[in-house]
Parts: sequence; C-alpha cells; structure tokens
Amino acid sequence: MVPMTVALAAQIDELEKLAKTRTDAMQVPRAEAELLASLALVHNAKLIVEIGTSYGFSGLWWAAALAVTGGHLHTIDVSEKKYRSSKATFAAAGVADRITNHIGFANEILPTIPGVIDLVFIDADKPSAQAYFDLVWPKLRIGGSVLTDNVISHHNELAQYVRDLRAREDAHSVTVPLGGGLEWTTKLR
Ligand SMILES: C[S@@+](CC[C@H](N)C(=O)[O-])C[C@H]1O[C@@H](n2cnc3c(N)ncnc32)[C@H](O)[C@@H]1O
Repeated sequence: MVPMTVALAAQIDELEKLAKTRTDAMQVPRAEAELLASLALVHNAKLIVEIGTSYGFSGLWWAAALAVTGGHLHTIDVSEKKYRSSKATFAAAGVADRITNHIGFANEILPTIPGVIDLVFIDADKPSAQAYFDLVWPKLRIGGSVLTDNVISHHNELAQYVRDLRAREDAHSVTVPLGGGLEWTTKLR
C-alpha cells in the first residue's frame, strides 16, 4: 500500500462513500486507483497531468504517490462545482501543495502546462481523447506514459483511438482490463 496520512486516507474513504450517492461522480474504482498510484511510483513521476478531476478521487491517489516521488499533479475539469469541491477535498487531505487545479476546457488548458511530463491520465469527454493525446504527447518524456480510461466500457467511442495508438511506431500500448479498461501507452522515442 502506498503510504498515506490519516487525513488523506479519510478523504479517499469519504469520496468512495459519496460516489454511491452522487449521480455525477464517475470516478475510477479503488482497484484501478491503486494501479494508478503504482504506475506513478514506477515512473518515479515528478509531473502528472490529469484530464478529468471530477471530485478528486483519482487525484487523491496521485497525491499519495507524488508524496513519495516528490512530484506535482496538474488536474483539469470543466465543471465549476467539481473544481471547487475537489480543491476543498485536496485541502482537507493535506495535499493541496502537490496539486494545481485548473478550471476550463482541457484543450485550452493543456497548452499552458509546460513539460516535461512523466504521466498523463485522460479521463474526460471521450470524443476528445485523440485531441488530448496529440496535445500532451510532444511534452511527454521518453519512457513516460499516457493512460486512457474507459477503453472497454466506452469501446465504441474509443476503438479507433486505440487502433491508432497500437499502430504508432513510437509507442507500446496495452489494455489493462481493470475498472472501465485502462489503455497504457508508453512513449518509446
Ligand atoms: C470520469 S470523470 C473523472 C473522474 C476522475 N478522474 C476520478 O477518477 O476521480 C470525467 C470528468 O471530466 C470532466 N470533463 C468533461 N469534459 C471536459 C472538458 N472538455 N475539459 C475538462 N474536463 C472535462 C467532467 O466534468 C468530469 O468531471
């Protein structure tokens, strides 16, 4: 288990509980979140970019890993309500200094985040996945990865995107069948 403070663990439990009552939480399940933290650790991630903050559940797990690696998370959401709520959650968890919350459309925010990026998590509007990938790929370090959620649960919307990832000569891409299906795409050169 990635080490975490009592305050951080409490916020994770709280969001997991609240997700059962919220209709708009759509957060990764805990098992997938644990894998995200593992991936941040194996990448020794110093800079993670997340597209789709929601209420901050995945963000809390990134923060746990980043406390170990000494890194920082930039997370983006278009919803004012979720921006405010996730900011408050990160503060209550004691991880606000590890996270920059951005409010707005990801395609407008992404160009403002400087590289070099170790890890990207694409977990927002599915039709924009390719556009987000194209914006972050040049800033990703070699050996860094783009993680795209829901490639199984949203197969129809993301099938072409995944086919294109698999066809790239500068990437290795594999589907991890956890949660909604996580496409793990590593930059080779
Ligand atoms: C599936 S949720 C993210 C869940 C979060 N990663 C977690 O696991 O806790 C997707 C989020 O993407 C946001 N979103 C949708 N379209 C967006 C856009 N164009 N730019 C930024 N955020 C967007 C939604 O408001 C929503 O909160």
